[in-house]
Amino acid sequence: MTAQEKIKLGRDFCKSPFGEEREPSDQQKRLPQPPLAKAAVSDSIIPLTDDFSAVMTETDFFTILEGRSSQRFYKDEPISLDQLAFLLYSCQGVKSIRGNHYATLRTVPSGGARHAFEMYLAVRKVEGLEPAVYHYLPLQHALEKVGELPEPEAQITKAMHDQKFAGGCAVCFLMSFVPYRAEWRYSTTAHRVVLIDAGHVFQNLYLACGACGCGTCAIAAIDQPVADELCGLDGEEEFIIYAAPVGLMDAEKNAEVNAKLYAKTIEESNAVKPLEK
Ligand SMILES: Cc1cc2nc3c(=O)[nH]c(=O)nc-3n(C[C@H](O)[C@H](O)[C@H](O)COP(=O)(O)O)c2cc1C
Repeated sequence: MTAQEKIKLGRDFCKSPFGEEREPSDQQKRLPQPPLAKAAVSDSIIPLTDDFSAVMTETDFFTILEGRSSQRFYKDEPISLDQLAFLLYSCQGVKSIRGNHYATLRTVPSGGARHAFEMYLAVRKVEGLEPAVYHYLPLQHALEKVGELPEPEAQITKAMHDQKFAGGCAVCFLMSFVPYRAEWRYSTTAHRVVLIDAGHVFQNLYLACGACGCGTCAIAAIDQPVADELCGLDGEEEFIIYAAPVGLMDAEKNAEVNAKLYAKTIEESNAVKPLEK
């Protein structure tokens, strides 16, 4: 396939398929609904607090909004388990169940309330947690350890396609997509909606970080097989689509890092002629 053909495919994928004739979904065929979230695989789960009053150090919405930026430098200190609990609840927390286990209603919106994501954590420095890979259980608001992480910094960096700043985080959020959870309802039109959903999740993470003294940076450039393997996923029925390292914010140092990074980007862009109208 030529690059031009790939671009055409990408553009068509972005267009709304609603209104066109669609293949009937498994929901329309009355096939059983997949689970609302992946269940725990053991009995040893780590409950998380739902009292966030102590961790929310900034509650002025406009201050949080204005202060939001991508943070690529984190203090080399642990975040607390309660801060982590707040961040997880903010981006995937379940508030209630709609119908007879038909859908979860969460702190983020989702097309058709499918919430076709799972959240994994590559933990490097979180108080009370050994460095390892954990899975968030949104229905219980709890964590479960699902994998080892003997070299957190190197392994996180590798999964983030060698973006070195990521390895310095306290914890790296890894968002997986469970395709069938959305396909069951939306069939062949599920995938575009899910990618839109993903943005809402990490926008909440950015804002929640701003409320509790943390910083984050959304990462799309992941190393797919490495990230999937890190979380023990098969890469077909579930795979990582988006990631976000998180750590304690150091605004001054972050501004320095970003200034350097963007100076390089601007310099490179200045070297090419702008597109003529
Ligand atoms: C979907 C998405 C993917 C991104 N991927 C990366 C990435 O792989 N590496 C990175 O350093 N920043 C990444 N970013 C951060 C952007 O570079 C950043 O949002 C942009 O430069 C604007 O800066 P700001 O977030 O500070 O306003 C990503 C942001 C988004 C929303």
